[in-house]
Amino acid sequence: SIEEKVDKILMQLTLEEKVGQMTQITLDVITKGESVFVSDEPLELDKKLLEEAIKKYKIGSVLNTANNRARTPEKWNEIITQIQKVAMKEIGVPVLYGVDAIHGTTYTAGATFFPQQIGMAATWNPELNRQGSAVTAYETRASSIPWDFSPVLDMGRNPAWPRIWETYGEDVYLTSQMGIAAIDGYEGKDNDLSDPTKVAACIKHFIGYGSERSGKDRTPSYLPEIELREHYLPSYKAAIDAGAHTIMINSGIINGVPVHASYEMLTKLLKEELGFEGLVVTDWADIENLHNRDKVAVSHKEAVKQSINAGIDMSMVPYNFDFAPYLIELVNEGEVPMSRIDDAVKRILKVKMELGLFEKPAPKKGDYPKFGSKEHEQIAYNAASESITLLKNDKGVLPLSKDSKILVTGPNANSMRTLNGGWTYSWQGEKTEEFAQDYNTILESVQNEFGKDNVKFASGVEYKHDGLYHEEQNIDIDAAVKAADGVDVILLCLGENTYTETPGNLHDLYISQNQRKLAEALAKTGKPVVLVLNEGRPRLISQFEGDMSAVVHTYLPGNFGGDALADILSGDVNPSGKLPYSYPMYPNSLGTYDHKPSEASEKMEGMYDYNSSLPFQYPFGFGLSYTSYQYSDIKISSASILPNADFTVSVTVKNTGKVEGKEVVQLYTKDLYASITPDNKRLRRFEKITLKPGESKVVTFELNGKDLAFIGADNKKIVEAGDFRLMIGDQSTEFKVSESVSF
Ligand code: IFM
Repeated sequence: SIEEKVDKILMQLTLEEKVGQMTQITLDVITKGESVFVSDEPLELDKKLLEEAIKKYKIGSVLNTANNRARTPEKWNEIITQIQKVAMKEIGVPVLYGVDAIHGTTYTAGATFFPQQIGMAATWNPELNRQGSAVTAYETRASSIPWDFSPVLDMGRNPAWPRIWETYGEDVYLTSQMGIAAIDGYEGKDNDLSDPTKVAACIKHFIGYGSERSGKDRTPSYLPEIELREHYLPSYKAAIDAGAHTIMINSGIINGVPVHASYEMLTKLLKEELGFEGLVVTDWADIENLHNRDKVAVSHKEAVKQSINAGIDMSMVPYNFDFAPYLIELVNEGEVPMSRIDDAVKRILKVKMELGLFEKPAPKKGDYPKFGSKEHEQIAYNAASESITLLKNDKGVLPLSKDSKILVTGPNANSMRTLNGGWTYSWQGEKTEEFAQDYNTILESVQNEFGKDNVKFASGVEYKHDGLYHEEQNIDIDAAVKAADGVDVILLCLGENTYTETPGNLHDLYISQNQRKLAEALAKTGKPVVLVLNEGRPRLISQFEGDMSAVVHTYLPGNFGGDALADILSGDVNPSGKLPYSYPMYPNSLGTYDHKPSEASEKMEGMYDYNSSLPFQYPFGFGLSYTSYQYSDIKISSASILPNADFTVSVTVKNTGKVEGKEVVQLYTKDLYASITPDNKRLRRFEKITLKPGESKVVTFELNGKDLAFIGADNKKIVEAGDFRLMIGDQSTEFKVSESVSF
């Protein structure tokens, strides 16, 4: 068995070699030339540095965040083959190579790029997410890389957080469903990693990342256990139950405790309670950060001791200090038990063995004919077109007739970079214009769809593509207003430039002043303005939204986002995306749809309507269509449910409009009274269906009483007896749970 083989190899390794297996360096450490993130130099391994890394440190893993620029699959094959040759010769154990292929194979030129996770969530179509992840697995493997630091299963519950676009949004059920689909796509149905088109998934960043109080990346979180278990843990549990092989840890601190040093979180919760048997890797230099930044370890050596004893198996980017020598010393001093080292190394070897790396450390070139193929691109287009979400459509201004005269304007109108976001060809996405020349910007797609002669362009505002990503330049609002002369409609493309992680931190969630001024000036022309949002988080637009005739949210739709948007604008495609987060209206009314009743809307000055929702610009789950749907006949199989019994809920949905459409049928429950103030409502099931004009379908959901559980005052799950409401569309019905059960 794999376990026996792993035990055999483990017995042959020295302590130095074991610690080497636990060490992951960035590629930058072993390449020639100028260092890290900006280097445009040809990628060449430095033989001396490579030999040193493997001979001296016996490293077991490499990640390619550095030399941050896309290369061909052939180039990756050449690089990785060279590394594996040295590793096999010196240690007899292949290197585990990892990459952040989060919406396509990040550093591979010609790879297929999908909508970012937030857009995939907006499709509400897990099957599409599975297909997309399977393509990414294939193309990552085609680049000789078998390990993918994806999916993100953190919750996008704070709209200011600069990584919200890397999440599946604010709801833990939607996140869990999307996460399971991603694992399925990356690892295959039975998580059989010997399939050379599959990669080992890495769910990240366990746990509570994104709950930072300030909304700024890697700043402190204060997360009570009851909240952690209610809204943050279930997506990880679902992915672990789905067989995910590896996990990355949250860089941040929760309630003052860095997760990387938390035995409670890493061993007790993750490895024991959730039964995670895979590999636990740190985030970037986060062992060192226990000393340098978080100040819980008085020295680097102490930081190594704390993190490894807490349950870390592999240290990402350990080179700025002596991770390996310290760990060896700590074992020799009895401060880190040998059993902990053996446990960590077994977990690492098992992933390598399951991936078949011992037999085939790097695949042959040309084994992957479908890399970047039309078939793969079609899936990316489908995902983009199902993600785009129509949020407003006054007087049916959309779809536009194909002979419309259109002004395309705004800083996001003519950029492949903003369509894709970060982790695209490079870390911050700044290389996208260069590498995505074969694809269409919004402007180019609109020109193709409506005819070049019908389309004018004036940017109005541009992003500065060097220096600080939030800066803008070439502000010429007058030119944009003038260009609106003679057109029927203005397509105003606003949003954000790209960012990834901490560089995306923001002081103000309102859309930039320049962009707001552009919107206001264009609205004054009296022409209908269709606002296209292309952004990684919901930037506030309440100051001018009332003057926009239509609003279309594209999120970060990838290389086919322009084409998908143009097809929606012309009506060739009927929009079917739904918001995976609540779009806020005001900076002091940030929140989620599942808030508590006391976070309700004001009825009048200082008075609240506790049955209402927060004042959102657009609510969670919302999205318009070019057709209309009628819901009727909601039915529950029994009006009195036992807490662990199955039951079904059905509803009839009819397309009452004139065009075919896809509708996301969403089932919510509301616990009317409970021992812990219940959430406003909770998503329990959803299904995306296609209906022809006049067609109706009965949608039946299967549930269990346990689906109604919440975390009680003792931090345990409970289904409590009492009255509940079921809601689907405008239909609702009430039912009872007859007994209480804790589990
Ligand atoms: O996987 C990423 C993580 O999401 C953020 N820090 C760097 C890691 C490796 O690139």
